[in-house]
Parts: sequence; C-alpha cells; structure tokens
Amino acid sequence: MKHILVTGGAKGIGKAIVEDLAKRGHKITATYHSSKEAAEKLAAKYPNVAFRQVNLENREAIQAFVADIVASGEPIDVLVNNAGLYVGKTFEKMTTEEVLQQIDLNFTAPALLIHGLLPVLKKSKAPLIINISSQVVRVNLTDEAMYASVKTALSTLTQMLRAELNPQGVRLATIEPFGVNTYGIPEPSDMIKPEELAQTISMAIELPDHLQLDNLGLSHINQPRPDYLAWIER
Ligand SMILES: NC(=O)c1ccc[n+]([C@@H]2O[C@H](COP(=O)([O-])OP(=O)(O)OC[C@H]3O[C@@H](n4cnc5c(N)ncnc54)[C@H](OP(=O)(O)O)[C@@H]3O)[C@@H](O)[C@H]2O)c1
Repeated sequence: MKHILVTGGAKGIGKAIVEDLAKRGHKITATYHSSKEAAEKLAAKYPNVAFRQVNLENREAIQAFVADIVASGEPIDVLVNNAGLYVGKTFEKMTTEEVLQQIDLNFTAPALLIHGLLPVLKKSKAPLIINISSQVVRVNLTDEAMYASVKTALSTLTQMLRAELNPQGVRLATIEPFGVNTYGIPEPSDMIKPEELAQTISMAIELPDHLQLDNLGLSHINQPRPDYLAWIER
C-alpha cells in the first residue's frame, strides 16, 4: 500500500486515476479546485481517499498545501501531477490571462509541488513523481502552441530532474497521452478511455522499487496522428 498524492483527482483523468488506485488498496490524498461535489462523492465511496481543495494557479495556496503535508509528517510515496488546463486557441487569440493560466497550472504548479514535497517524498523507501504531459509535445498542431510549450517544459523538467534525483533514489516518469475522452463524447472509436490511462499509470506505480518508467506515450491506434500524416505527405 502506497500513499499517493494526485492533483485534480475529482474529474476526468484524475478521477479515473484516484478510483483505479483506491480499488487497488492504496491511500490517496487528492486535490480538487471546483469539483467539490464530485470530490465529496469519491471520498464517501472510498474510505482510503481524502480530498483537499487547492487552487493550483495560486502560489500562496500551493505553499500552504505543501506546508500542511510537510507538517503532517506522513511520507508520500508517489506524487501524480495531473491537474492541467487545455486551451485550444491560436496564440494570437489567447487572452493574457489564458497565456499565464497555461504556464501557472501546467508548469509552475507541478514544479512548485515537486520542489516543496521533495523532503516528504524522500522519506519514502521508493519515491516516484509522475508528471502528466501530452503527446502534443511530439507533434505540430495549430491552436496548441502555448499548451504544447508548457507541456514540453514539464517533460523536460522531468527528464532533467532524473539526472539530479535518481542518484538520491527518487524516480520520475513522464506520461504523454494522446486524446483521452474526458470530453463526454459517447463511445468514440479513436480515443483512450480515462480508465485505460489510469490502469497504465497504476502499472507505472506498481513496478518494482528499482524500476522507473521514463517516458510513456499512449495513443489509440485509430486516432489520426498529425505527425504521421505530415511524414506520409512528404
Ligand atoms: N484529455 C486529454 O486528451 C489529455 C491528453 C493528454 C494530456 N492530458 C493532460 O491530463 C491532465 C488531466 O486532463 P483531463 O482531460 O482530465 O482534464 P479535465 O477533465 O479538464 O480536468 C482538469 C483537472 O484539472 C483541475 N484544475 C483545473 N484548474 C485548476 C486549478 N486552478 N487549481 C487546481 N486544479 C485545477 C480540475 O479540477 P476541478 O475539476 O476540481 O476544478 C480537474 O481535475 C491534464 O494535465 C491534461 O493536460 C489530457
């Protein structure tokens, strides 16, 4: 049984991660921001799941959350940086607020959580940090310049921190999924189900202590891949 912290655990991929891990008997501390009702339902359904409200766009809120976890003295074995925001717009059409939101939620928050929680993670016998990036870092899509840039920064941070932290026993994994159906599309034939991604993440968490899944891309074979199409058209 591991103690796992999941950000954005009440909705979408995060909810599927929390449910899959809870069913496997792990202890989960999860965060939510606006999905209060969903968080309460999950906490009522699974006695091993607790939720905390944190606005991960707010630096002081992150620091207060980290301080509480550190003060509790309980080790965290796994940190899953899942909370994120996708704004599908050309860079030119984004508001200043949207540009900053992308940076704050998709990059600054995971970086601050890793930074603040490292002392707690290091109390675990096999600490693991999982950052949910995206396949957008590998393709050139219009309308995704900002999202792809911050996810690239997150993937790069994960890679660079391996050099610094692996020698101290801290493992880091990047998960880069392609389209996951968190949009409520009925039975799409070309998207990953949130539960399928969650199972993959649980697999990464349950690997033997000496193994680290470095980078995992996950895609549905029916989903059109702009990178493959561009290659074929050459
Ligand atoms: N869906 C995809 O196709 C896909 C593909 C690749 C990667 N990803 C990545 O996977 C992760 C989850 O995506 P998703 O599809 O599940 O997204 P989603 O359904 O839009 O959920 C977003 C999550 O982020 C949390 N969040 C948003 N703003 C927040 C804030 N200010 N403070 C704290 N938490 C906040 C939300 O919490 P509340 O609901 O409580 O506000 C929610 O749990 C993201 O990092 C995303 O970039 C998604």
